[in-house]
Amino acid sequence: MRVLVTGGAGFIGSHVVEALRRRGHETVVLDVRRNSGDDVRSPDAVAGALAGVDAVCHQAAKVGLGDGVSDAAAYVSANDLGTAVLVAAMAEAGVRRLVLAGSMVVYGEGRYTCPRHGAVRPGPRAVADLDAGRFEPACPRCRAPLSPGLVGEDAPADPRNVYAATKLAQEHLAAAWARCTGGSAVSLRYHNVYGPRMPRDTPYAGVASIFRSALARGESPRVFEDGRQRRDFVHVRDVAAANVLALEADFAPGLLTPYNTGSGDPRTVGEMAGALAAAHGGPEPRITGEYRLGDVRHITADSARLRRDLGWRPGVGFAEGMREFAADERT
Ligand code: UD1
Repeated sequence: MRVLVTGGAGFIGSHVVEALRRRGHETVVLDVRRNSGDDVRSPDAVAGALAGVDAVCHQAAKVGLGDGVSDAAAYVSANDLGTAVLVAAMAEAGVRRLVLAGSMVVYGEGRYTCPRHGAVRPGPRAVADLDAGRFEPACPRCRAPLSPGLVGEDAPADPRNVYAATKLAQEHLAAAWARCTGGSAVSLRYHNVYGPRMPRDTPYAGVASIFRSALARGESPRVFEDGRQRRDFVHVRDVAAANVLALEADFAPGLLTPYNTGSGDPRTVGEMAGALAAAHGGPEPRITGEYRLGDVRHITADSARLRRDLGWRPGVGFAEGMREFAADERT
């Protein structure tokens, strides 16, 4: 297959390109890092890149939490206008296979169980609670403590920040494209991806990269909240492998199929900080009690459907992946 990888010079995209080439596929990269004209928002650049292409893997996006709403237009432009230009050009070029970099953030706070009220969906956490160190979301009906559960792909979307809203809109645009053209779209809703070439020292760096940079400076990783918030840290090589499987598989025409893409081995942020610090040889993490307003408490979804339908198995375990990540400070 000849595959166009948008964002193919970036963190995840570059691993997708490598994985595709290892499988014998031909790749075309459209990435603004290569040349500012190679923007996915440029109809000419996209039309040129689509020549002779069988499938598109759309990784180009503006990531991170952003700064509230002041940069909303930049997120919508990069993520949603970019996707709109891409799917319009794909319709024109007759390309019928699309794999999209989705995100777990589309679920918001996700699924919780109250001992009295069963399954509930807590709203955003109140500033007063966060200031008082009450980080766990409470039952919206009786304020009882809740237990987080695994979120399935059929859970309702509940984007809680601008970035999440743009990732959800990308899926809607891809679904509209599939419906209009009879193409098939897949959204791989990524958990917290880490590994070689992870962005560092930028406002968009993920927590694993921030902690590693702190350790390299001889400083303690600063763990927000009480450190017990859970995330699913999935290795970038496993995410690349999921993209290859999705590009090669046949899906129902006219639809977008979402897949949660996580290791299935959720860890607390405190635990991750501890693993990186230990692998680095210290210093120990420090729990600061700070918080970020747009953050959700736990992000733990169920990636069983991806395993079942595509035979995907994550190959890099938490301990091994964090050891490798801590050791390789140049990437
Ligand atoms: C991340 C991704 C987002 C992706 C989502 C998928 C980044 C920047 N964001 O969001 O693109 O869609 O996963 O699930 O990669 N924290 C600290 N100390 C710090 C910084 C953060 O303790 O210095 C904590 C945060 O409060 C949060 C957790 O680490 O609880 C994760 O933060 P972050 O890496 O920014 O990722 P997400 O918000 O989960």
